[in-house]
This record gives sequence, structure tokens and C-alpha cells, in this order.
Amino acid sequence: MNKEKLIVSNWKNYIANQAQAQEILDAVNDLLESRGENGELSELLQKSHLENSAFLGVQDLLDDYPAGLQYVILGHSSKRWPTVGDGETSVSINSKIKRSLEKELTPIVCIGEKDKGVDAEDFIKNQINKTFAGLTPDQVQNCIIVYEPVWAISGNPDAQADNPIDASNKIQIIRDYIRADWDLEDDVMVLYGGSVSSDNVVEFISKENIAGVLIGRASTQKEEFSGILNKLFAMQ
Ligand code: PGA
Repeated sequence: MNKEKLIVSNWKNYIANQAQAQEILDAVNDLLESRGENGELSELLQKSHLENSAFLGVQDLLDDYPAGLQYVILGHSSKRWPTVGDGETSVSINSKIKRSLEKELTPIVCIGEKDKGVDAEDFIKNQINKTFAGLTPDQVQNCIIVYEPVWAISGNPDAQADNPIDASNKIQIIRDYIRADWDLEDDVMVLYGGSVSSDNVVEFISKENIAGVLIGRASTQKEEFSGILNKLFAMQ
């Protein structure tokens, strides 16, 4: 693999306590060190009232975030389609993207159809229009997008990862659409998310147009997360 790819770990509410978080951080950082890799995984605390679950926290950290924070995940399906609380609309996500950019945080924005088999292209374009409405080309260029079909996210009934070829095709649609609509010189970065594991990560990452992966549950299991990273190292 000769191109840099971005690996995002989204712990949601799977982590029970600080000690468990530290164990994962230590395992991954030891692995990185043993490989002589630069870089360190650092923890981003997320407050929530919810029990152990696939849902993101309910507290808005944008006004009071820890020093060193660089990225913020916005538009996650557990916020767009919550089973608890009011959730978020493309309009509120849009305003959080703008606020994040003002604070020089990089928004990682999730996009994706809810149900398998719907006209995904139409749905995604419509969601992009609303989510990124009013953003300048520079602002859009500074966002990272995740194509994350909701039906593929582990924790949903019958979830299974998208087929990497289909995911790559939809990611190309997203890249082309945004480049044309905002008249960008370069494509935006688009990652894939949804049931990424050590069994399938290589297939997603090896697609030229997939800029990386967002990993939920598998990144909260230290052996599995290390297994994913080892597969990625083996590609280098
Ligand atoms: P998953 O979660 O990898 O457990 O499917 C993806 C996500 O964080 O949305």
C-alpha cells in the first residue's frame, strides 16, 4: 500500500470505563511502537447517559471539548435515526459542521442510506445537498466524508458489511457529485464504514478511491483491532 489511508475508530458506547479504554489504547500503541510506526492513538472522551450500546453520546462537546481534539464525527446514523431522544436533522448537522470548521476541527461526516435496496444514489445526493448546504468549496474540502450505509452498521438487525465493489462505486458517486457541485479541484476524502473487521478491511482499503475506514465495534475489541492493524501493516 503506497498511499496513506485514514483509520477512524468510533467507540460509541461500547466502552464501559476508563480502564477498558486504556487497555485498548495501550494495546494499539504497543503495536504501533513495535512496528516502529510514528503515531499514537489517543482517547477522545464521550459523555453519555446511554448504556453500553452502538449509539454515540448525547452531550454536545462542540462548546467544551478537550485540548488536542482534531476530529469530530457528525451525522452518525445513531443521531440521524435515534431510538432514544430527538436526534439530529441534516439542518442541525449542517450547523455543527460549520461550527466545527470555525473551531478548526475536522468534521468526519457520515452519509448513507438507511435501508438496503432503496435508490441509494438518489438518497445520498439528497442527503449531501442538505448536509452541506451553504458550505463554501474550501469548507467542503476540509470535511472528511464517511459512506456508511445504515443497514451495514453492526448492532442493526442482520447487519453485514457492504460489498467492497458496491461501496467503492457509491463512494465514487459521492466524490464525483461533490466535486462537480462545489467545483472542487480535488476530490474530498471518502471513507467506508459499516461492519469493518479483520476479515474484510483489506478489501475496502485496497480500493483506490476509498480513503480509509471508520471502525466501530471491532475497534473496541483489542485483539480484533490489533488484527485489523496487522492486516494493514501486511499490505505495506
Ligand atoms: P461498526 O460501526 O463498525 O460497528 O459497524 C460503524 C460505526 O461506527 O458507525
